[in-house]
Amino acid sequence: LHKTVAKQHEQNKDLKLQVCQLQALANIGITTTMIAHEINNLLTPVGNYAALAMMHSDDSALQKKALEKTVKNCTNATQIMKSMLALASGEAREKKLTPLRELIDGIFASLCRDFAKDSIQVELDIDDEICIWAVPVEIQQVFMNIILNARDAMLESGGRLSINAWQQESEIYVEIADTGCGMNPEVAADIFEPFFTTKKDGKIKGADGGSGLGLAFCKRVVDNYSGSISVESEPGKGSSFHISLPCSH
Ligand SMILES: Nc1ncnc2c1ncn2[C@@H]1O[C@H](COP(=O)(O)OP(=O)(O)OP(=O)(O)O)[C@@H](O)[C@H]1O
Ligand SMILES: [Mg+2]
Repeated sequence: LHKTVAKQHEQNKDLKLQVCQLQALANIGITTTMIAHEINNLLTPVGNYAALAMMHSDDSALQKKALEKTVKNCTNATQIMKSMLALASGEAREKKLTPLRELIDGIFASLCRDFAKDSIQVELDIDDEICIWAVPVEIQQVFMNIILNARDAMLESGGRLSINAWQQESEIYVEIADTGCGMNPEVAADIFEPFFTTKKDGKIKGADGGSGLGLAFCKRVVDNYSGSISVESEPGKGSSFHISLPCSH
């Protein structure tokens, strides 16, 4: 009996090791797909802008704008790749105090299609003084994912996207609210899980099939900053994402 117990103890140890190794592999897999997801977010507008510039080859202002966006988004794509790899391996990336307003304006500047074209009105209420202590491109991608989801949720019939931010002690609170399709409590409970998506069936007009990685990416980054992210939503009325982040180190 003693021998059997010892053998099973050894087997148990081996199995635990295997589970750890598999978890590490799964982590690499998720990190890689998240990198691909964010690069796709950044490359899609670049491709659209380039196509637009080619169609209007005599419009030099448009050509210049397309080139500027290409350079900016490609730089961000390289940065986000480095960031995600560093995050997965536990390495520290250089953080700096960045004005939130600048990050949000950068997102709208990097997207190709104007929200007004889809009857979406954008309202920003962010004081110029509000700053976040972060790797800028990481937080920018977090907000970009939430903004892109809000746009998908309002593609059907337009609406309003409002972004508010305020500071309370050493935390910055950001609320990103839309008046789109909203979600039921069962969906809301799963949205931060990797690969959870309701966009597979192409039900959302104009939205590409989703991969379910946008909000999982947001959660991973926000958790890494010891911040928090949550959602309140009502079907047919809209959704409101709440994020808290540190404003100093
Ligand atoms: N603003 C929103 N309004 C309604 N539903 C939302 C909103 N944001 C997220 N969701 C729900 O959460 C799900 C997960 O979002 P997530 O961004 O992680 O993936 P996705 O948008 O489906 O695909 P992608 O990987 O392209 O971002 C969505 O499929 C949708 O059901
Ligand atoms: Mg998404």
